[in-house]
Formats: sequence, C-alpha cells, structure tokens
Amino acid sequence: MASFDLIVLGGGPAGYVCAIRAAQLGLSTAVVEKDKLGGVCVNIGCIPTKALLHSASSINLIAHQAKDLGIEVGAVKTDYGVAMKRSRRVSEQNSKGVEFLMKKNKVTVIKGTGTLLPGKKVKVGADVHEAKKALVIATGSRVKGIPQIGLEINKTTVISSDEALFLEAAPKSMIVVGAGAVGSEFADIFNAFGTKVTLVEALPRILPIEDAECSDALAKSFRKRGIEVLAGAKVLKAAVGKDSVTLEIEAGGEKKSVTADKVLMAAGRAVNTEEMGFKEAGVQLTDRGFVKVNLATLETTAPGVYCIGDVAGQPMLAHKGSREGAVVAERIAGHKPHAIRYDNIPSVTYCHPEVASIGLTEEQCKEKKLDYQVGRFPFSANGRARASNETEGFVKIIREKKYGEILGAHIVGGHASEMIHELAVARENEYTVEEVDLAVHAHPTLSEAIAEAALDSMGRVIHT
Ligand code: NAI
Repeated sequence: MASFDLIVLGGGPAGYVCAIRAAQLGLSTAVVEKDKLGGVCVNIGCIPTKALLHSASSINLIAHQAKDLGIEVGAVKTDYGVAMKRSRRVSEQNSKGVEFLMKKNKVTVIKGTGTLLPGKKVKVGADVHEAKKALVIATGSRVKGIPQIGLEINKTTVISSDEALFLEAAPKSMIVVGAGAVGSEFADIFNAFGTKVTLVEALPRILPIEDAECSDALAKSFRKRGIEVLAGAKVLKAAVGKDSVTLEIEAGGEKKSVTADKVLMAAGRAVNTEEMGFKEAGVQLTDRGFVKVNLATLETTAPGVYCIGDVAGQPMLAHKGSREGAVVAERIAGHKPHAIRYDNIPSVTYCHPEVASIGLTEEQCKEKKLDYQVGRFPFSANGRARASNETEGFVKIIREKKYGEILGAHIVGGHASEMIHELAVARENEYTVEEVDLAVHAHPTLSEAIAEAALDSMGRVIHT
C-alpha cells in the first residue's frame, strides 16, 4: 500500500490545482485520474469550445466585415472538421501542459478509476493507496439528456457537447435544447459554420441566470444572425429517427414542430458520484445529488475527506473549482487562506457578443428590495469599440444608493470576459462605484465604458 499526505480523486481544474498547491506547500501528493489530465474543461469543455468560438468569430469577421476593413476575400467557405481538429490540438497542448505541471511539482499521477474505501483510502485496480492527512474528491460532472421526453443522448442524432466537439462536419440543421452557457456557445459556433440553428430554452429567456437586459441583448444579436430563439418553450415530444429528430415544442402559447439533423442537449449537467464507494466511505450527498460539504471548510461528512469543484455544488465553473482546490490544499497544509466569496465569482458565456457578470442581477436587487441606481454605457458610444467594429452591447453597473457599493455588474460585448475582472477585483475588495471611476482609465479603451457606467450610476456620465 502506497501512502501520500494527500490524494486527490480527479485531475480536472479543481483536482490538479489542489494537487499543485499541496505539493508547493510540501505535502506528498497523488492525483488519481482515469482519463486525460485537465478533466472536462481542458479536454471536452472550456478549452476546445473557446478554440471553436475563435473560429466562429473569425468567420463572422471575415464574412461580414472584411470588405469594410479593406480586405478583399472571395466567397467564404467554412470547414468545421478543420476547426475541430485545431480545437483538438489546443486541448492536447493544454492536457500535456497539466502533465508537465504534475511532473514539475512532483505530484504522482495514478492512472485508473479510484474507489473510496473507509479511512481515507482509495482503491485503483488491485492497489490501495492511503492518504495520511486528507483525501479530496474532485470527480466533476457530465452531460445529461432528458429521458422523460425521449431525448436520451444516442450520440448520433441526439448528441451532447461531448460529441459536438468531435463532429467532422457541421450539420445542416440543429436544435439546441437549453440556452445556458453550453447551449448559447454552441448555437453561436454552429450558426457561424452555416448550420440552421434553433435554440430552445424552457425558462422565459436565454441565459436565464444573467441580468434580463443581457439575455435580451444576446437574443437580439442571435436573431439578427439567423438563430431561431424559442424561449419560454416546452419540448412536448420527441421523435428520434436515424437521420433526423422532430421535436414538438410549445412556445408563446403556440405548438410547433421542428425537425433537424441533430439535437444538441445542453440542459444541464449531472455530477459524478456513482460507483466510487462514496456511501461506504461515509460521504453523504445532498437532496440535489451533490456531495454534502461544509462550505467553510469544504470537508464532507467523512472526517478528513474534502470535496471541491462541480461535484461539491453550484456554480459548476472551472474557476470556482480551481479556487476551491487551492484553498482546500492550503487549509490541509495548516494555513489560513482567504475565504472564498461565493457571491463574487464571475460568470462568463463566451459566445458573440460575450456576456459576463459579477454579483447581483437587477432582478435580484428588486427581489431583495435593495435601494439601487443603475448606470449604463453602450459600446456604440465608445471610441475604441467603434474603431474595432464592436459596438454591440453595453456595461451595466448596479450601485447601492447610500454607500455606493457595487451590487452587480453586467457586460455584453466583444471583450466582456476580460473586462469583468476590473469589477470583480473592485467588488472583492469592497471598493465603491466612485472608487472604480477614480482610477484613470486609458483612452481609447473598451474599459472606459466601465468608468462611464460608474459615472452614469451617479448621474455624471460624460459621453452619452
Ligand atoms: P445550465 O444549467 O447552465 O443551462 C441549462 C439550460 O437548459 C437552463 O437554462 C435550463 O433552463 C434549460 N433547460 C433545462 N431543461 C430544459 C428543457 N427541457 N427544455 C429547454 N430548456 C431546458 O447548463 P449548461 O449550459 O449545460 O452548463 C452546465 C454547467 O457548466 C453550468 O453550471 C455552466 O455554468 C457550466 N459551464 C460554464 C461555461 C462557461 O463558464 N462559459 C461553459 C459551459 C458550461
């Protein structure tokens, strides 16, 4: 039996970051991983989709703006297979990068499926490994279908992002079920590659967890590009054929039937908790199926067993998992890390325009009966955005009236995913909206829209 100070079950962004931080702090550490290092994020999630989204935005740029930018191109032809292969290379590089980091930090990688045994032990094949200090569960999540309405993933006509990432060609038509981050990103990708996309969302608007103004702006942009957006839509029935699928959908009080070559299921993810001995090891689950953790320590109901990432609960985001990994490693090594502010984790959807946010939506401020002012600034009034043909979208800042606290910030636009961090840092450090504007913003930059939105929330906007 091999023993380590710390064993991490799962080598995704939560698990491998935990292992690196633990090793940095002098703990002998092992990661158990049955597949490639990097998990869903690196191999079949965040990273390959970003590569495909880069292809998608490049297609849109060349097809719609080249002439105006002074570039002569012939008819634009797209090839999803080529873009897919590039996205695979990008994923491979990242996964190899994680392998290198494991070696650099002297983390032992144990290949295989781990099963927990009571007493901080993990069985992998015939071998049992013991964790002297702690064991960390980071087993992640996977896609799920909706078998209740006959939409079980069959990997041919009803697919998930797992299969979409490996298609050799873009289908002629596709129905995307679910307009969260996954659905919205894939709707954007396939639309750019010429697929006729219908995006179906059960809740009244797409990206339902975002501020309603952001959802509306994205829906408008999607519709302008030819994506059919059906929100508040219920899938009543599915007829799954060999070459196509027909869905009966009720939207806006009307029933309609939509047929497509493929249905892409993006209606949420299920966490990986089965057949790994959790129950036997004393690790309990919540009513919603996540591992039950004490949020202050990330310890499970089994002493010395911790849990991080998707399997530990919402939000299921790589950056939330990575932060939990680092924090839990520090705590296990006897340090006192800065507590995670779960209310200050940025949310980003990388479609075009991008949607990024931090903190409360305006709807949540209303529900909480907070006294607030909203500041807005459209990119159409920003010089840099005009110069770069990126005038879609806006910055919206919600300011608490009395003390100027940043209650929430929402950005729709070309580089929203990068810009949101100015507001995340400000909010983490409890800067006021006034203090955001006090820092001089370089001209001309898109970030000036943040300073202007801050000013607008105080009734002092300059450029609109
Ligand atoms: P999600 O839970 O974010 O969105 C699923 C959507 O499907 C919801 O809006 C839901 O209302 C809708 N839905 C559920 N059942 C439906 C039905 N029968 N018909 C129509 N719509 C239905 O899940 P998603 O997008 O699959 O993402 C999974 C997790 O991964 C999330 O936690 C997400 O935040 C994370 N993720 C984050 C990304 C990012 O940060 N850019 C990218 C991809 C995933």
